[in-house]
Amino acid sequence: MALAGPYRAKILGTGSFFPEKMLTNKDLEKMVETNDEWIVERTGIKARRIAEDGVVTSDLALKASQRALEAAGRTPEDIDMIIFATVSPDQVMPSAACELQHKLGCRNIMAFDLSAACTGFVYSLSVAEQFVRSGMYKNVLVIGAEILHRLVNYKDRGTCILFGDGAGAAVVGPAEENEENGILSMHLHADGSLGDLFVLPAGGSKIPFRQNVLDKDLQYVQMKGKEIFKNAVRTMSQCCQEALDANNLSKDDVDWVIPHQANRRIIEAVGRHFGIPDEKIIYDLETKGNTSAATVPMALDAAVKDGRIKRGDMVLLTAFGAGLTSGSILLRY
Ligand code: UT7
Repeated sequence: MALAGPYRAKILGTGSFFPEKMLTNKDLEKMVETNDEWIVERTGIKARRIAEDGVVTSDLALKASQRALEAAGRTPEDIDMIIFATVSPDQVMPSAACELQHKLGCRNIMAFDLSAACTGFVYSLSVAEQFVRSGMYKNVLVIGAEILHRLVNYKDRGTCILFGDGAGAAVVGPAEENEENGILSMHLHADGSLGDLFVLPAGGSKIPFRQNVLDKDLQYVQMKGKEIFKNAVRTMSQCCQEALDANNLSKDDVDWVIPHQANRRIIEAVGRHFGIPDEKIIYDLETKGNTSAATVPMALDAAVKDGRIKRGDMVLLTAFGAGLTSGSILLRY
């Protein structure tokens, strides 16, 4: 439903960071039975970014956060809360958010990780919105960051061609009084009955880390790609429709759609479903691949920085991911 409340939340500034090092399709040809042509045609991906050994997820997040703070005109001391969307934190405990809070030099504010896979940033932005709209916090740092290449089996061509590393961040705070910009609606879902379509089996209470994990490669993600594909198109289309209906808008009122960057064909299918022209869709996966929770904020930052997205534009964010989770956020940037 559309939002009402004392303080409308808006994105004050964005930032992103991704490693320079690329793993190209040609590189993958030497590792698994695949080829550049197949990968480009089926996914739209030509390369993905790979963090150097020793670099951890909060390191990528730190750089993205510093850029978002600068864009928002805020300092680390201004931040009231950190929400860190990731499925590849530095370690299970403590959270990547706490690591980041320390690295940034923030006050001893509330900081936590949010696990919603590729929908993580959209979920996190909606949590930030609530704290801002209620008047409780003025500057919330929201991050989506991943180092996925360490969770991928480079013997599994169904997954290793997709995933990469990166980070995106946004500072969220109250809009000015009577300002029209800000988050207009949020629609968020989960369907745990489809959880087995995309899993990271080991490391939790179900399959704790023991030798058998390594023997069976359970430390790597496992995915039913075709099923995920179908559900991705279905759920993102539904979430976008909910956003339009709740705001009494038509697809023509939307200036930009920023979908989760999983696969170019998934994004094109959602665009076709809505009849949204391709020029209004932000694509950011060609040289970055699928960075899970990081794709939406990275794509948003790229489009803001290159001048495509301007203040006042109507922007529709949508994502889906393991869980299965899905969601959309409509905002006037
Ligand atoms: O962030 C959310 C997480 N995941 C996703 O969003 C993934 C969603 N799914 C997808 O992106 C696609 O399903 C994939 C890219 C993973 C696979 O594309 P597809 O068009 O669904 O291919 P497929 O699995 O149906 O396989 C088609 C053919 C098969 O050969 P046969 O049986 O037709 O002879 C596969 O064995 O392509 C073969 N194949 C490959 N060939 C070359 C599968 N993977 C590869 C590969 N290189 N990497």
